[in-house]
Amino acid sequence: TRVGVLISGRGSNLQALIDACQKDDFPAEIGLVVSNKAGAQGLDRAREAGIATACIDHTLFEERELFEEEMDRQLREAKIKFLCLAGFMRILTPYFIDRWRDKLINIHPSLLPAFKGVSTHERAIESGVRIHGCTVHFVRPEMDDGPIIGQAAVPVLPGDDADSLSRRVLEAEHRLYPTCLKLLVEGKARVTAERVRMQANVA
Ligand code: GRF
Repeated sequence: TRVGVLISGRGSNLQALIDACQKDDFPAEIGLVVSNKAGAQGLDRAREAGIATACIDHTLFEERELFEEEMDRQLREAKIKFLCLAGFMRILTPYFIDRWRDKLINIHPSLLPAFKGVSTHERAIESGVRIHGCTVHFVRPEMDDGPIIGQAAVPVLPGDDADSLSRRVLEAEHRLYPTCLKLLVEGKARVTAERVRMQANVA
């Protein structure tokens, strides 16, 4: 099954997906990595792994949907069936999200529905929660919302700052994202009544 990954930067989650897809028993391959930023480190990771890349600079398009149309065109040309957002820093419009409905997933660095949006680790520490983590979910037009496929929890430890906490969460992200992608492409995590009905355990 051919999967596309959308990135804007570092691409450590992309790397985790690349590594997983290289294993013989993994049911997906990455057919295209798209970045809206030319200098994204993730583009180098993809090239190093011999994966096709596309850089589509959103600033060259007058409207969000025109940018998305071009992405959509290239993804379909590459025969992509499922899409992962991995640190993709553009808001997607309902136009694009509907075209990829139930085939488009995102990883967010918090235990949703807590801490939607940015600076999740700062806000987790500030709020005094003892458990934090990450979530993989289907994308819906509302930001950081949509049926949840899987979550991974990590402790917030005494003395943590946003950096140390984000490193702990990121390690969990790198395990969770490939696990959830596998369930998705195998049809074991499907949306019914806007919830994911599981046929397997994530952990
Ligand atoms: C990750 O923390 C992810 O959860 C969030 O953006 C960050 C991307 O990091 N959506 P990377 O580019 O995968 O290293």
